[in-house]
Formats: sequence, C-alpha cells, structure tokens
Amino acid sequence: MSLELIGVSLAYLPGTPMSRTVLHDVNLKLECGQIACLMGRTGAGKSSLLEVMCGMMTPSHGSMVLDGIELEPRSGKQALRDAVGILMQSSERQLFAETVERDVAFGPKNQGLSSEVYLARAHAALAQVGLDPQSYCHRPPFSLSEGEMRRVAMAGVLAMKPRFLLLDEPSAGLDAPGRDSLYHILLNLRAEGTGILIVSHDWEEVEMLSDQIFLLSEGRIIAVGKKNEVLTDADKLKGAGLIMPPVVELLCDLKSRGLDLPVYSASPHYAAACIAKALGKVRP
Ligand SMILES: Nc1ncnc2c1ncn2[C@@H]1O[C@H](COP(=O)(O)OP(=O)(O)OP(=O)(O)O)[C@@H](O)[C@H]1O
Ligand SMILES: [Mg+2]
Repeated sequence: MSLELIGVSLAYLPGTPMSRTVLHDVNLKLECGQIACLMGRTGAGKSSLLEVMCGMMTPSHGSMVLDGIELEPRSGKQALRDAVGILMQSSERQLFAETVERDVAFGPKNQGLSSEVYLARAHAALAQVGLDPQSYCHRPPFSLSEGEMRRVAMAGVLAMKPRFLLLDEPSAGLDAPGRDSLYHILLNLRAEGTGILIVSHDWEEVEMLSDQIFLLSEGRIIAVGKKNEVLTDADKLKGAGLIMPPVVELLCDLKSRGLDLPVYSASPHYAAACIAKALGKVRP
C-alpha cells in the first residue's frame, strides 16, 4: 500500500502571465507503516507538495498512483481525499465549525458514518490529543489557545482515520508535553500501518521519527534516503539550503579521523555518549 508521485510538476496560476512552476518532476513514494520526513528551506515547495498529495491541488504534469493504481485527474481527487488526511501548516485555520465537537466530527460525518459512530470517533480523537471531550466539546474553537486549536485540528484529522497522514510542521509552537504526545500518536499510527509524511525543520525530531527523508530544493527532490545517508551529506544539505547542526558536523569529522562512531545523531547527549564510548571512556 502506497501513495506515489511520478514526475509531478505544479504551476500556480497556469496559463496566465503570473504562472509560476513551483514543483518540478517530483518522484516520491510514501509507504504505509512508514514515517517519511520532508525537509527544505522556506519557499522550497513543501506545503505545495502536500497540497498535491491530498488532492487540494492538481498537478500540471505527472501521475499520482494510489496503491499501485494510477489516478484519473478528476475522479482521483476524491480517492485522495478519502485516503489522505492533512494537518496544514497553520492548522488552527482549518477550524471552522461553531463547536469543537462539530469541527472534529465533520470529517467522519461526511464519510457517511452514523451519528453514534462519528461522535464516538470525535470524542476518542479529542482524548487522543489530550483534550477532555466533556470539557471541550461545546466550546467554540476560536475561544481556545493556539496550542489547543492545533490539537483540535489534529483530532479532526485523526477522527477520519486516514491511511496516509500529511503533517506540515506539526510540532511548531507545541510545548514539550504536546510534542511528546504528538510523537507518541505518530509512532502508534505508524505501528498500525498509517503512512506518514512530516514537514519538519527540527533535526532531532527528524532523527527520532524518520524511516526515510526527502530533501526538497526549489521544487525539486534532490536527495532521498535514510537519516545516516541524507543528514550526513554536507553537499546535499547545502544544496537544499540547510545547515548541518554542529553536533552532526563534529560526529562526521571524528568519524573521518577514524573514531568508531556507529550512528548519526543530532542529539548532543547521545552524541556525547557515543564519543565517550568510542574513546573507551565510561561516563561516571
Ligand atoms: N497560492 C499561491 N500562488 C502563487 N504562488 C504560490 C502560492 N502558494 C505558494 N506559492 C509559491 O510557491 C513556492 C512554494 O511555496 P510553499 O508554501 O510550498 O513553500 P514551503 O516550502 O512550504 O515554505 P515554508 O517553509 O515557508 O512554509 C513559493 O515560492 C511561494 O511563493
Ligand atoms: Mg510551508
């Protein structure tokens, strides 16, 4: 089971003098049961790519393939909407209903489920993101804090139980417990077989979650691979306009000098432990 983009390009305002192509010949495969991370500098096209993947935008060229079947440009949009959930970059802007309950239940209700089932789904999703359904259900979304709004938006996506989940900088602005609970949810969803794509600028987050990494630069995928390959490739990172964290630079440097360092790490604590071990020094 997978969602695949083959040779996809995207132009905004096509056919007008303002037309701009922002994605060029993108090939990307998101597998079920995997977490992929998408990295790239501001304006690289990350959000645009997610919008194509969930059916919000139609590619100018190329094909979308869902579970091995190429999608028709028109009917394919519905298939994508059924299979793919998206948490947008400013997810609080996704909220629109009068109450939190209605907002979270909107997706599963539209899937044709009975009111008993869609309300149960909405309440379970709220609990999953750490919001007590009894306290929050009847509140207007716009009376919530930004962090609470993000959690409600996430609950709305989770309540639909999508097979593929796209998250645009989901941890930006969350506090530490909020991040932990997000990571816990994502790792559980991966174990249940959901295919997840996360846009992230956070190296430790990418290190912890990613099975695969895509680097996007000026609308082109310039590297694909596992963290040990992609995040230690200084040239590729530079090509994507990203700067290697100093701790990774240090590990790469020490490795090139012959120190036996088994893994890449952006975590200073973990890196320090690896270096101490490689030097034969046991920390007290
Ligand atoms: N609706 C639009 N109309 C025209 N151009 C757009 C539109 N939305 C985005 N763009 C342009 O497309 C390019 C990619 O934008 P996109 O939002 O996908 O980048 P991004 O990688 O998500 O950036 P960021 O890290 O800042 O969120 C940018 O040059 C942007 O100006
Ligand atoms: Mg963006």
